Amino acid sequence: MRVKVLISAEEIAQRVQELGREISGDYQGRDLLVIGILKGAVVFMSDLIRQISVPLEVDFMAISSYGQATETSGVVQLLKDLDQPIEGKHVLIVEDIIDSGLTLSYLHQLLQSRNPATLKTAVLLDKPERRRTEFTPDYVGFTIPDEFVIGYGLDYNHKHRELPYVGVLEN
Ligand code: IMP
Ligand code: MG
Repeated sequence: MRVKVLISAEEIAQRVQELGREISGDYQGRDLLVIGILKGAVVFMSDLIRQISVPLEVDFMAISSYGQATETSGVVQLLKDLDQPIEGKHVLIVEDIIDSGLTLSYLHQLLQSRNPATLKTAVLLDKPERRRTEFTPDYVGFTIPDEFVIGYGLDYNHKHRELPYVGVLEN
């Protein structure tokens, strides 16, 4: 396996710190509920929350993913719901990447219907060329071209999530 590094660990750390500062400023004086989308978001989320200076809680959701393919089926299915109600809370959804946008628009709609005080989204990576539904995340780490990426939480066939950088698999 050869991997071409697209975004280095240092670049990621720098950008995550900036995002943390921005989010801390935007939520000044409020408590935050950070919701990570399993499994891809766990690495980004664990780094991001340590750069946020407002009080926060975490929770997780899981939705059906691509399985072994690199293309979405277009059908999103809820596999694990939150442990707690979110009514009246300031909620930030954290996701590894937005691609077609189907996952985030589904989750946003679902959580909005539970009446949070505010609802925003943060993604490490954005592939805007691939969008199949209109959705713009509130916080974006990096905008990347239409390439399938791995590492820093992102997998191919359940593997490579542990890589400290974001890269592209080369054969
Ligand atoms: P969307 O619903 O098409 O926006 O897809 C979002 C989900 O697809 C993410 O949570 C990832 O799990 C997965 N995904 C999309 N693009 C990539 C990629 O380049 N590498 C790894 N996973 C990806
Ligand atoms: Mg995912």
